[in-house]
Amino acid sequence: MSNSQLPSPDGSPQRAGFPAFAGHPQTFELRRQEACHTGRFASLGTDSYPALKEHAATILHPEELAYFVPLPAERRRISYLLGRYAAKRALQPGLGNPAFADIRIAPGIFQNPVVCFPMSDPWQVSITHSEAMVCAVAFPAVHPMALDIESIDPERVATMASQCVEAELAEAARLGLEAPAAATLLWTAKEALSKTLHTGLTCPFALFEIQSLERIGECECRGLYKNLAQYRFHSWICGDSVLTLVLPKRTEIVFELGRPSLPASGPRRGEEPQNSAGGKG
Ligand SMILES: CC(C)(COP(=O)(O)OP(=O)(O)OC[C@H]1O[C@@H](n2cnc3c(N)ncnc32)[C@H](O)[C@@H]1OP(=O)(O)O)[C@@H](O)C(=O)NCCC(=O)NCCS
Repeated sequence: MSNSQLPSPDGSPQRAGFPAFAGHPQTFELRRQEACHTGRFASLGTDSYPALKEHAATILHPEELAYFVPLPAERRRISYLLGRYAAKRALQPGLGNPAFADIRIAPGIFQNPVVCFPMSDPWQVSITHSEAMVCAVAFPAVHPMALDIESIDPERVATMASQCVEAELAEAARLGLEAPAAATLLWTAKEALSKTLHTGLTCPFALFEIQSLERIGECECRGLYKNLAQYRFHSWICGDSVLTLVLPKRTEIVFELGRPSLPASGPRRGEEPQNSAGGKG
């Protein structure tokens, strides 16, 4: 272990000077009848940016740094650096704990993230950003998945709901989800599926239509798609954010700590904090 790679109190590699536990990876199992895979999830608040940007040259691969340094927009600098950092924290244990700068996450042809690192068993990542936080999952490439996070933003609810059919909104209402949480959850399920397929939101939303939705906890739902029947999604409503992971339909995801934990995002200006799914009953 080099001097720049200090052990954190919990034994995971922690770079000198980095904010303690920012993006600490959470392990999950991907249980299938024929096999069980392990993946990792990492999340951090965008308020980590001022501290982490001081370490950009340690976090980013030289080619990533060459892209990052001239970026004109602060918003993109934040999402890029924190997204790469979260993805590398999630990847690191599966790759044998290499230095972050030795891992390159290149943009694929469709801007999908591609892990470039010598690996006998290849890994992939999925990255998502919101105003308040950044999340990533690292998973074995044999087991496709992706994630999306969105803030429950009353100003975007109408746009999100406009991309749903009546049956989807009725299904969410039947479960007792309030309209803002429901529209956001349905949107994340569609966006995460579009990332799994690498299309992004370039195809008709009808392709991503949701067939069924069930509530499996106060703040936890899962569901199936009408057209892409080999996938399903699992969503968590955490404070004022919705996080969704898309998985193969027959995989059960089990988090070491029961559920993914997100950094506190805090209430947006002019809003009361929202601490639950906002269920009606
Ligand atoms: C994929 C898409 C839905 C993500 O939307 P977003 O608002 O950026 O949402 P998120 O913050 O949740 O996700 C961003 C991450 O998605 C990933 N991503 C982007 N395109 C992807 C694709 N086709 N497949 C899988 N993942 C993708 C990237 O890792 C990106 O982060 P990064 O650029 O820092 O690496 C959106 O970019 C899209 O629809 N792309 C297709 C249209 C397109 O190519 N537009 C080009 C820009 S105008």
